[in-house]
Amino acid sequence: MKRPIIVGNWKSNKTGADIQTWIDEAVKQKDIINIFSGQIIICPPFPYLDLFLREILKNELHVGIGAQDISPFELGAFTGEVAVEQVKEYASFVIIGHTERRKYFLESDELLSKKVVQAKRVGLSVIYCVNDEDMFIPDGVDVFSYEPTWAIGSGKPDTPEHAAEMIANLKKLHPTLLSLYGGSVTKDNVSSYMSQNCIDGVLLGGASLKFDSFFSLLQQCLV
Ligand code: PGA
Repeated sequence: MKRPIIVGNWKSNKTGADIQTWIDEAVKQKDIINIFSGQIIICPPFPYLDLFLREILKNELHVGIGAQDISPFELGAFTGEVAVEQVKEYASFVIIGHTERRKYFLESDELLSKKVVQAKRVGLSVIYCVNDEDMFIPDGVDVFSYEPTWAIGSGKPDTPEHAAEMIANLKKLHPTLLSLYGGSVTKDNVSSYMSQNCIDGVLLGGASLKFDSFFSLLQQCLV
């Protein structure tokens, strides 16, 4: 099987102690993790980007770091926002347009396009989430993630065949972009997505939180 891109989005989960535990367990499996040569990308909450970066450098874990969101503004008087220059000190990737940002924070295509412009200004790679084949993907995106809203956190994933059809249609419009499938991916179904030619990787929520279940999923990608 091809070596997939595996993005772990920790959302608003975990404290520093939980993250330290996850890293300590990951370090014990460093040889396996490093087989993925940087194609594993973990997206911790903002306050822990620094901790995560320091730990992976210290332990020589070849894991990419992503932010879960970004400000649409430059550095300046925008209370509560985190600007691309600040994220860039820790991360190489950023998720933009996750369903939860669209649903709970009412983020529009226009706002999301501004975030993409900011991210590209400092050279962050953009992972852009869409819920179906008709959704707008702005210029500058590097990777799109197809994740039907009903599949996220529900335990009811899309079928690999339907996900592949949606992703193939998106790739017709955006042939240079890499693709992910997200929504209730687990160790038991990850192979069925990765065996679809047009799917380059997966975006995990729940399955990335506990290191042992995350590691079981990685092992499925090595067989
Ligand atoms: P889930 O989340 O794996 O918990 O369904 C996926 C996502 O948020 O993209």
